[in-house]
Amino acid sequence: MQYIRKSLLFLILILVVNVYSNANIDSSFPKDQLFALGSYYYPEQWDEVQWERDLKKMSEMGISFTHFAEFAWAMLEPEEGKFDFTWLDKAVNIAGKYGLKVILCTPSPTPPVWLSTNYPDVLIVNEYGMRLQHGRRQHASWSSDRYRKYVSRIVGLLAERYGNNPTVIGWQIDNEPGHYGALDYSENAQNKFRIWLENKYGNIDNLNRIWGNSFWSENYQNFGQIRLPNQQATPDKLVNPHAMLDMNRFMSDELASFINMQADILHGKINKNQWVTTNLIPVFNPADPVKMNKLDFTTYTRYLVTGHNSGIGEQGFRIGKPEDIGFSNDQFRNFIGNEFGVMELQPGQVNWGIFNPQPFPGAVRMWVYHVFAGGGKFVCNYRFRQPLRGSEQFHNGMILTDGVSLSPGGKEYVQIAKELKTLHKKYDESAVMPQSMAVRRTAILFDMNNYWEMEYQKVTFQWSTMGHVHKYYNKLKSIGAPVDVICEDKDFSDYPFLVAPAYQLLDSALVKRWEKYVANGGHLVLSCRTGLKNRENKLWEAPLGAPILGLCGIQSMFFDHMPDNLWGKITAPGGENFEWNNWADVIIPEDGTEVWAEYTDQFYKGNACVVHKKIGNGSVTYIGADTDDGKLERYVLERLYREAGVKTENLPYGIVKEWRDGFYIALNYTSESYDLNLPSNCEIIIGKSVLQPAEVTIWKEK
Ligand code: GAL
Repeated sequence: MQYIRKSLLFLILILVVNVYSNANIDSSFPKDQLFALGSYYYPEQWDEVQWERDLKKMSEMGISFTHFAEFAWAMLEPEEGKFDFTWLDKAVNIAGKYGLKVILCTPSPTPPVWLSTNYPDVLIVNEYGMRLQHGRRQHASWSSDRYRKYVSRIVGLLAERYGNNPTVIGWQIDNEPGHYGALDYSENAQNKFRIWLENKYGNIDNLNRIWGNSFWSENYQNFGQIRLPNQQATPDKLVNPHAMLDMNRFMSDELASFINMQADILHGKINKNQWVTTNLIPVFNPADPVKMNKLDFTTYTRYLVTGHNSGIGEQGFRIGKPEDIGFSNDQFRNFIGNEFGVMELQPGQVNWGIFNPQPFPGAVRMWVYHVFAGGGKFVCNYRFRQPLRGSEQFHNGMILTDGVSLSPGGKEYVQIAKELKTLHKKYDESAVMPQSMAVRRTAILFDMNNYWEMEYQKVTFQWSTMGHVHKYYNKLKSIGAPVDVICEDKDFSDYPFLVAPAYQLLDSALVKRWEKYVANGGHLVLSCRTGLKNRENKLWEAPLGAPILGLCGIQSMFFDHMPDNLWGKITAPGGENFEWNNWADVIIPEDGTEVWAEYTDQFYKGNACVVHKKIGNGSVTYIGADTDDGKLERYVLERLYREAGVKTENLPYGIVKEWRDGFYIALNYTSESYDLNLPSNCEIIIGKSVLQPAEVTIWKEK
């Protein structure tokens, strides 16, 4: 009886927590509103007399919320302990007057000059031993208690002042927290690292053993001797891989605790209709969003046209790559509560690319629809006005330098705002994903620990962890699979297919979960590098990949690499040929394991490259090679889904097709037109059946 009562109480508690945690997001972004548009505005950067004109204009463009103050600490606390919120009160009031809601931000990325000058220990020290200086952002140390104290005070005051303001819908903590690639070697960070290690390892002998410190006499006598591993401080720029992995884990924990600290302060003071988030650059050191568990949901920031990649086809450099938004949607949706938004999207040209091309006409709009297609709640455009002074002078906004005319990107937002009204009319709250798509639902298992470890120990210069993971993502999208990028905290059994690309660090508990998943009819796909080490980053005292060999029906394997100008050959039964160049696991299968592809040259000609093992209604497929063009990966996935009785699509790379709330959405990231061949009885709501580059088509099927 007592047990039943306890369970009931627990259930009620879970229900209350769930209702509470989604209520605040739903009240700002009601489900039936479908999707919201926002834009960044910096009152502190413009003459006060222009605020009203600008915010009125924003509202007239169909934008429903704005975003203030993430860089405004110096204006909010111009002198230590002297605060001025009057200007922000005024800006929030004007926004409210024109029906705009406000996301308020905590200003921690930009400490004021008095803080850095009076207390230089709040600043990070980079890997060359240089203390970073005032001016710019992300230069303060999350490990500094003093910095945290000052941050806590300003955050608390902001929360008290605006935590019940009906115009304010929610809070963004910091801005792209992550030091933009700089690592923090300050004494504060060194001390916290030692404490972190001591908590983890208990005593120094344990640490010495797990880090393998008897190698090259690295042994420590006590925790006080340990410094954060610094590649610049070694002759060959290499440091102990265990220390390196722990450093990444530590820095990600420090960041998460800094974000969680702010979230706790906010949650303690704001009303229940306001929510708390942060805006992260996807898959970027050293942030692990999984640890930021005090947030209500996560958001990401994205800039697709920055000269860094050539996209697809001749005009691809103006359009970007689909996985930049697609993968991030499918990952961020799964961090907290199945909700996400995009806090920054490019409005046009940026100023910080390696070169800064104009986006292809329509691309700005297409990116917004990509977020919509992925189930996002909103896009907040970065930024409303093009700055005339300061560090982002050549960065476009929705408004040109004259302060009043719409930029091409601004015009595209006006168009989206109008189109959303049409979509809204067609919204059907009861729509469920069509069965033909649901049967293809696939999870990609992703963990930052693998990313950190393989990016440091690439083993071949050609290895790219995200290149490998994105390859699988893109191939899954091309066969029309709805994808969730998940972490180990999720239940695998929700998905008919589970792909764990290059999942290098694991333990027997995870392997058991995979075995159970397959025994229950799931289809598991593993790729090269999976299971080579334990979570301590140690190779097994057993054959390579020992814990997964039985599961995959593999007797043994070894791996091989090629120079970048030579390609190894692979053939699949039926005569399909492929080439590999980056990484190849050469496999000796167990009896009864099917060989789906084999190597046809090198000294191991005839050995297996892809093996498949059926277990009841489920299966395990191991893909040993990482190919440049992903043709092999695509071939294997296609065969797997077909043999599992699931019909697939055949979309070229760059043609995105998604389903959301009863709408089919197609986008074209290529430089060519594409005929969607829509069924004759479908209702096209936006766009045309032939999709031009950077265009969008939205339709419903009967
Ligand atoms: C983002 C950043 C913004 C702004 C923008 C410019 O990465 O979060 O504050 O600098 O880039 O493109």
